[in-house]
Formats: sequence, structure tokens, C-alpha cells
Amino acid sequence: MADENLNERKYTFPTHKQKYELLDKKNQEALLGGGQDRIDAQHKKGKLTARERIHLLLDEGSFEEIGKFVMHRSRDFGLDKQYFLGDGVVTGYGTVNGRLIYVFAQDFTVLGGSLAEAHAEKIVRLMELAMKNGAPIIGLNDSGGARIQEGVVSLGGYADIFYRNTLASGVIPQISAIMGPCAGGAVYSPAITDFILMVENTSYMFVTGPNVVKTVTQEDVTSEELGGASTHSSKSGVTHFSCANEVECINHIKRLLSYVPQNCEEDAPFAPYEAQGDESRPALDTIIPENPNQPYDMREVIEQLVDTDSFFEVHKNFAENIVVGFARLGGRSIGIVGNNPASMAGVLDIQASTKAARFVRFCDSFNIPLLVLEDVPGFLPGTDQEWNAIITNGAKLLYAFSEATVPRITVITRKAYGGAYDVMNSKHIGADMNFAWPMAEIAVMGAKGASEIIFRREIMEAADPEAKLQEKVDEYTDKFANPYRAAHRGYVDEVIMPADTRRKLIKAYKMLENKVAVLPKKKHGNIPL
Ligand code: HXC
Repeated sequence: MADENLNERKYTFPTHKQKYELLDKKNQEALLGGGQDRIDAQHKKGKLTARERIHLLLDEGSFEEIGKFVMHRSRDFGLDKQYFLGDGVVTGYGTVNGRLIYVFAQDFTVLGGSLAEAHAEKIVRLMELAMKNGAPIIGLNDSGGARIQEGVVSLGGYADIFYRNTLASGVIPQISAIMGPCAGGAVYSPAITDFILMVENTSYMFVTGPNVVKTVTQEDVTSEELGGASTHSSKSGVTHFSCANEVECINHIKRLLSYVPQNCEEDAPFAPYEAQGDESRPALDTIIPENPNQPYDMREVIEQLVDTDSFFEVHKNFAENIVVGFARLGGRSIGIVGNNPASMAGVLDIQASTKAARFVRFCDSFNIPLLVLEDVPGFLPGTDQEWNAIITNGAKLLYAFSEATVPRITVITRKAYGGAYDVMNSKHIGADMNFAWPMAEIAVMGAKGASEIIFRREIMEAADPEAKLQEKVDEYTDKFANPYRAAHRGYVDEVIMPADTRRKLIKAYKMLENKVAVLPKKKHGNIPL
């Protein structure tokens, strides 16, 4: 051995060129996912591929992939012959309108986008990067669920994700788009995230599918009826946005991101803004009907108040008696909660309370100031509401407002009755400013109901009970169905002309922008769930 001349040995080494070609080949293979046939099948269903979706979402050329060559390690049930680079999920980072985001997109062309050990590890790694670096994470879901061939490691993979979803909640914004199947326990990752978007006719979410439903309850129901976008956007409220197609879905994600900060340490984004004259909006002076029992759409008030075309409604088709959404006011990103008299007179019920409570908590988690537009006749009466716990659910909204430390302003446009007056961001529970319009009625209840109770005997004994009732209604209206009693006590800071509201709000939010409010030290509160 000693005299052997190593340099003359006839070893052959792959050249750099060959190594570069191998890398190129692997990159090409990874880009093809489950292969051209399955990509074609995906397109035939009217769906885009994982990479096409990422391309639509991110700024041109900004995507950097992580874990492109990751593969599963299973050898059971034929998986030893089926390896796909990336293991059915594309993960990485890029920018949306110049701001960093992390994204994962499940690739249905690879084993139906099913999730198992390696697939889950990629998502977990991305979530940890997103949390450490303080940027939103977007999940584009399209998956047959737990990869059946890999058994319990698939379930473990899901739980690893659920756990991190929970840790990330309130730290970074988490957004889930459902762009295909999402069934079984898989639904619980999106459910923990802040917003869910679904695509009409090509996506569905359910814990158990139509076959199991048929076996257990004998109900005949299609996937679309059971868990499609329209069901979840209107009946269950599971999804916040029902999108006509995938392009609309991606555009909604981009718009949503434009209102939220990168993480809980940042202020909400501020768009460049030039004052529009004296900011008065004369149309608001005539927007409320003269007859206090006539409805109007609170969205019309919102459109007048906020920067042009900046209102982005969330949960539009669910609990329409309350409107929630993001907007800009003088460039500032704000969250709006408004009772809507156009639906059920704007009454608060279980669904409206939970819808608004969740939105308030999102805004407070991410430093987005709150604006409440109040016109509420009270809580909805009835056995349905009581038996389904309007007490507990109404308390969620009360609790959510009470613990919110962001700048909070209320404008009472008309009715503020009963417990709903307290709940809807009253000064008593921490609102910073409370304005009322001259037609505001702030009282325990409406004048007629109140008169019928407190003057019952007098009305019954009167020669003309109708006339007596009217006299008492007038008396009660004069005393209480106005904003001045509350203003005398300072519960209302100022009674203002509707036209001046925008100007007042812009100044008030500016005044509140350095607000510091500290809650009592605690591990965490116990919101009534
Ligand atoms: C492995 C799967 C898969 C899965 C689909 N595939 N789901 N492989 N594990 N979970 C594969 C199919 O075998 C097929 O492979 C390819 O993906 C495409 O599936 P198709 O059935 O051809 O597509 P389509 O007709 O569009 O139907 C989609 C589907 C259906 C409705 C999702 O595939 C389906 O029902 N899959 C099983 C769903 C399921 O029961 N998952 C487990 C849920 S329980 P080939 O090679 O033929 O193209 C769960 C628990 C999570 O997820 C618990 C967390 C706590």
C-alpha cells in the first residue's frame, strides 16, 4: 500500500456538470408533484395546483421554497414504491405587497395531498419559522386527510400542527384557505386559525362525511350541502369568506393581509392618506329614517364614514344582524362592529354575539383599533335563544369588549337599549370615547314597552287607555328616549351631528394612538365558552 501512487488510480468521479444536471432533474421532478396526468386531473376539476396557487398569492419572483426534496420514510402498503419529492406539500416564504409571509400549499396531485409524518414536519417547521420571525402564515388546504398508509404518525402529525396553531394564536395572523377536501380531524387546524376562506363548489369541510352521516343519522346529504362554502358561510359560520373561485379566494387573502400587522408586537398598517376637505359627510344627516322603527342598512353608514371603498366585510352571510369588517379611516386600519337594523332590527342573538366576539378578539390581539356603531333594541327573546345559552354566548361579546385594550370608540346612531347598551362597547366596560347622534335613544327599553310596564294600572284605569298610553309614551320618550341623560352623566362624551362623525373619529383615533392599557396580572382569563 505504501508505494501505491494514489493519483494513478482509475477512480471515476461524477463531474460538476453531472451534479448540476442531477439537481436540475430533481428540481424538475419536484415541480411536477404527482405527475402531469394528475395535474391535468386537478385542472379538469376546475382547481389550480399548489404551485399555481402560491404563484398567484405571492409577489412575482418572491417565492423561496423550503424542504423541496423532503420525502416520506414509510415502507408500508406500497409506499416503498411511491416517493414524491416534497411529500405532497409545498412550503416556503415570499412577499405579498412587499411584506413577508410564510405559505404552505397542499398538493392534491401527490397521494391526494394526504398528510403524514414528513408532510406534517414541513408545515411544523414553517410555523416555527413564522412565529420566530413574526410574520403571517397562510395555509392553502387541499387534502384527503390523514395518509391512510402511514397510520398513527399521520394523526401525530396533525396534532403537532394543532398544537402550534394554538401557540401561534394571537402571536402571528394565521389564515386558512380551503381549496379542496378538508375532512375529519383535519378541520381543526383551520378552525384554530384566525380566518377561513372557502371556494364555492370545489371545497368542503366536515368532521364526518355524507356516508357516515347516512349510516348514523339516515340523512341524505351531499358534500356541498353538508360542508360546502355556502353552508359554512351562512349556516355554521365556520368560514369567514365564501369565494366564487380560487382567484377571488387568493385576492381576498391579499386584501385581508393589507389590514393586519405582521405580528402582535406591531401596530396595524397605516395607508398613505390625504385629508378630504373638512371630512364632513352631509349624507349621514339623513341616513336614519324619521320613524325609529324603520330599518336601514348599517353598511350604508359605514360606507359614508370610512375611506372610499375601504370597507372589507368579514362573515358577510352569517348573523347578518351584526356587521363586522376592516376598513381605513384617514388611512388608519380599524375593525368595525355594527348592529344592523336591516336584519332582525339589529337585535343581538347567539350567532351575532359569537361572531362579533371573535372579531373583537382578533382586532385586539393584533392592535387594530375598534369602532362600534350601535343601534340595538336588545337581546333576542325566546326559548330557542335561552335554551341554546344566549346568556353564555352574549357574555362572550361582553367579555371580549371588556378585555380589549386597543383604542375603542362607540357611536350610538339610534337605539341603545337594555343590557345591549352595556355590552356594545359602553364606556362602563372600557370604551375610550362614546359619541351619540341626536336621534339616539339610550334607555332600559323602548318607550312603549316601558310605559306598558310602569304605567299599566294607570293606563288600564283610564277612560281612554289608548290616549293614556300615548301620553305616557310621550312622557317617557321626552325623558329617556334621547342621548342627553347619558351625556349629562358623561356616559356619552359628545352628542354630535352625524355629518361630523368622520372628522371626530379621525381626530379621536389620532388622540388615542399612544394608548397604554394594562390588564390585571393573570395566567389567562376564563372567557365563557
Ligand atoms: C392516502 C389518499 C388519501 C388518504 C386520497 N388519497 N385520500 N391516499 N390517504 N387519506 C389518494 C387516492 O388513493 C388517490 O390515489 C388520490 O389520492 C386521489 O384521490 P381520488 O379518490 O382519486 O380523488 P377524488 O375522487 O377527488 O376524491 C377525493 C377524496 C377521496 C374525497 C378526498 O380520495 C377520499 O375519500 N379519500 C379518503 C378520505 C379519508 O377518509 N381520509 C381520512 C380522513 S380521517 P391514486 O393513486 O389512485 O391517484 C382524517 C383524520 C385526521 O383525516 C385526524 C386528525 C386528528
